[in-house]
Parts: sequence; structure tokens; C-alpha cells
Amino acid sequence: MALARTRAVALFGVDGQIVDVEAAITNGVPGLHLVGLPDTALSEARDRVRAAIYNSGETWPNRHVTVSLFPASLPKRGSGFDLAISVAVLGASDALPLDACAGLVMIGELGLDGRIRPVTGVLPAVLAAAESGAETVIVANGNADEASLVPDVKVVGVSSLRALLALLRDLPPPPEPDNDAADARGPSPYIDGLATRSRTRRGDMDLADVRGQAEGRKILEISAAGGHHVCFTGPPGCGKTMLAERLPTLLPDLDHSAALEVTAIHSVAGTLPAGQPLITRPPFQAPHHTASRAALVGGGSGRLIQPGAASLAHRGILFLDESPEFTGGVLDALRQPLEGGEVVIARSGATARFPARFTMLLAANPCPCAAPKARDCGCAASVRRRYLARMSGPLLDRVDLKSRLKEVSRAELRYDLELAEPSEVVAQRVLTARDRTRKRLADTPWRTNAEIPGRELRRRFAPPHRALARLDRSLADGRLSARGLDRVVRVAWTLADLKDKETPATDEITEALGLWEGRT
Ligand SMILES: Nc1ncnc2c1ncn2[C@@H]1O[C@H](COP(=O)(O)OP(=O)(O)O)[C@@H](O)[C@H]1O
Ligand SMILES: [Mg+2]
Ligand SMILES: [Zn+2]
Repeated sequence: MALARTRAVALFGVDGQIVDVEAAITNGVPGLHLVGLPDTALSEARDRVRAAIYNSGETWPNRHVTVSLFPASLPKRGSGFDLAISVAVLGASDALPLDACAGLVMIGELGLDGRIRPVTGVLPAVLAAAESGAETVIVANGNADEASLVPDVKVVGVSSLRALLALLRDLPPPPEPDNDAADARGPSPYIDGLATRSRTRRGDMDLADVRGQAEGRKILEISAAGGHHVCFTGPPGCGKTMLAERLPTLLPDLDHSAALEVTAIHSVAGTLPAGQPLITRPPFQAPHHTASRAALVGGGSGRLIQPGAASLAHRGILFLDESPEFTGGVLDALRQPLEGGEVVIARSGATARFPARFTMLLAANPCPCAAPKARDCGCAASVRRRYLARMSGPLLDRVDLKSRLKEVSRAELRYDLELAEPSEVVAQRVLTARDRTRKRLADTPWRTNAEIPGRELRRRFAPPHRALARLDRSLADGRLSARGLDRVVRVAWTLADLKDKETPATDEITEALGLWEGRT
């Protein structure tokens, strides 16, 4: 009995695990048997692998071929196992030297003609391979740039099974097929109703486009500096959406490890921008209010567990425009990521984990009638209250910066030009403040003030007692909860960082309390 072994990677969310792929050829009814919980896509691999081997000028062993994927208990999905399966089969039939493929990890889908097609999730898969000690990973040419982001592992991009076999046999590479369709990205899996816009660049948007709204602009600056969640309410047409869309222009580039995290998620989702293997700008996700729960936090069937907008917004911004209009209960699903910074989806024995640490930005009209002028609104106070209450519960509770924007006056629209600072100027202040924060948090896992856990705010990062005295009254009369207290203190730190002060004082605490209560 001939036996050949190589390796591939199974993905769960953004976590990968090495899978041993073994092929054995025995006497018996000719055919290919896959064992080890293959899902539908994997079963289809049977036909692809056979056709690809045949169309690469190789002989299909006309005997009983068993391919086993180990550990068998691990659910495996997707088409990325094709390459490893075909190489194992050829190894077992003595068409390849056995030792040539044993140490390799192979990730790629095969076309019927033997082309190697790119797959989604290559970055997290190669990370897992590297962590397991693999030295060389074989991927499709079209995935090579993305795979090469992983340090300490040799990445070899190949365009066809024929080319890979030549490589494994130490032969010169065959001529490339003229058609370079092999380098095109594979079809990207898509969730129905995923109404998100992924923006990594802000085009020519600038904060200076927004006239008036000094308070709104200031709030964006504080949010950008400290990573605090924001809620804008205000009459239709006052610039809520406009402001929100400009928050990314104030954020610094992602550092390298954050860039890798974000890229891994978009790699799995198949939303990496073409020709840009590494995402270096904070993502901006704006799911429409008709979005489903799965579109918002991820989901799907066993075969395709997909990250949702909350994860695609990881290390960036999740903008929920017209938030009261989101359908019942969908926003409640954000509780898990807001609490733990990740989404965990369990399906048919497998658990997928997607990081989801984002800055949440809510925007809402004050009432359902959406009258542009306050005097035209006929909504009863109870109706208005109920409308905004749709956002409450898990969300509004966690918003540090609440702001009621007013309509912009005509004079402001006309004359405020020179007052409106451009994004570049504000982004520079944000950067300076973030540097301050980073130095203070240098030996901690947190990067922004919003991430500091409550207990540390009371120990290592406690503001002076004098400054906190201001909050005692609010705590005593029940206007401020313990959670609210922590939120106020975090924002006060950001205000201090923006003003280049050592610690927050009474002024910053008072200002932060006002922002938390949303008195403006
Ligand atoms: N503060 C503002 N400065 C400049 N233009 C504004 C401002 N507010 C509103 N506009 C104009 O009105 C349009 C609608 O604004 P938008 O941000 O969508 O309002 P909202 O989201 O509050 O309903 C914008 O595209 C812009 O042309
Ligand atoms: Mg709007
Ligand atoms: Zn109204």
C-alpha cells in the first residue's frame, strides 16, 4: 500500500488549524473516497481534483484511493484543500517523490483545467501554518502577496498544478498559460442582505466640508483620540451623516499588528480591495438599517460562516445611521462584540471567532416624522421618547459622547468657511493625543482610553480625588451609574490627552460628564 502525506489548513473564523492530508492507494473498487467530515464543497473537490490531475497530463490511479483529512473531528469547509488532496493522491501513486511534499502546507482551489485559484482567508491560514512551524506554504499566485504578509515563512505562489508538480519534481517550470485568469480573485462568498459599504479611503471628504456644528466636530475629535462611541441626534439635514462619514479622516493609520488583524477578517470575507494585500486604514462600515442580524454580526450556514459588519469594522468604525430604524432586536446582537471585542459563532460543532473591536457611531432623527424644522414636528413627547428608546438598552448605555445637534443656520452655512478646520489639522491633534495615551498604556494590552477596563481606571489610571469629587453628587442622586462613571473617566483622560495634561482635573471631568449626559 502506497501512502503519501501533505498538509492544509482548516479555518474557523480567523483561527486556523493544520490538517494532515493523507492518501492511500489500495486494491479494491476504483474510485476516490474522502474521509474526515468533508462538507459539500470538499466533496466537490473529488471532481475538481480528478479533472485537474487528468488535464495536467498526469495519470489518475485507476485503483481505490482513500484520502483522509485529519483530525477527522474537525469540520472542514471550502475549496482550499484541493491542492493538498491532488498532491497527496499523486504522491501515493508514485508520481511524485514522497519526501517532496511531506513538509509543505498547501492552500488553493483547483480549476478543472488544473489552474490554481485563489481562496479567501489565506492570511489567517498562512499565519496558522507559520505558528505550527511550517517552513514553506504553497498558495495560488493570486494569493501570494497576501500570504507574504506573514513573517518567517517561505511563500511560493504557483499558477497551475502542472507548475507545482514541476517544482516538486525539481524540473524547470512549464510555460505559463497565456490567459492569466488564474490570478483573478475567486468568487467571493456573500451573505444575502449584507448591505455594507466598505471604505478604506475617504476619497476627497474633509471635515472642513461641514459648516457650523462646532460641537459635533469636537466630538468627532474626542472620539478619534480615545476610541469612544458616539451618538448624534438632530433634525434631518443638519449634517449627522456628513459628520459621521468624516470620522475616518481623523484616524491615524493602523499599526502593523492591527493591520494584520483587519486584513485577516477581510480576507475571510473576501472583501480585500483588489491589489491591496494589506489594509492599513481603519475600516468604515455603514450597514443599512434593513440589515439582518447575520449581516450585522456574522453568521451563515455550516459551510460559510461569514464575518458581519461589526467584524469588518474591527479597529475602525461601525456607523449605524438612522439607528432607531433598525429592525427589532437586530441591534441587540451588538451586545456581545461591544462587551468582549469579538463575535463567536457556533455552527455544527465548529466555533468561528471574529474580532470585533470598533468605535460605534449612532445617528438618529429626534422623532419618526423627521421634520426638518423643530416647529413643524407634531410628535408627542411620548412618541419622541419611544423613538429614541429603540436605540437604548445595550447601545445607548455604552455611548460616551452623546450630542444633540441643531440645524445649521443660513449664516453658518455661508460664513463658517474659515472657522471649519480641515481634517488634516484635527488629525494631527488626534495623533499627538494618541501618542500621549500610548506612552501611558505602553506596558498594557490597550491602545486607546476607551479600552481601559474599569478596575484599572480605579487603580493605575485613577484621576486625582479632587477631580472626581464632582461626580459624587451625580452618583448620589442616581444620575450616574458605576458603568457611567467609568465611561466619564475614560473620556476625561482623552480630554486631558488632547490638552496635553498629565491627568484629568475637575474641568475635564465636568466636560466629560456633560458629554456623557448629552446635555449639549
Ligand atoms: N453642517 C453642514 N454643513 C454643510 N452642509 C451641510 C451641513 N448639514 C447638512 N448639509 C448638507 O445637507 C445634506 C444632508 O446632510 P446630512 O448629513 O445627510 O444630514 P442628516 O444626516 O443630519 O440628515 C448634506 O449632503 C449637505 O449637502
Ligand atoms: Mg442622515
Ligand atoms: Zn416629529
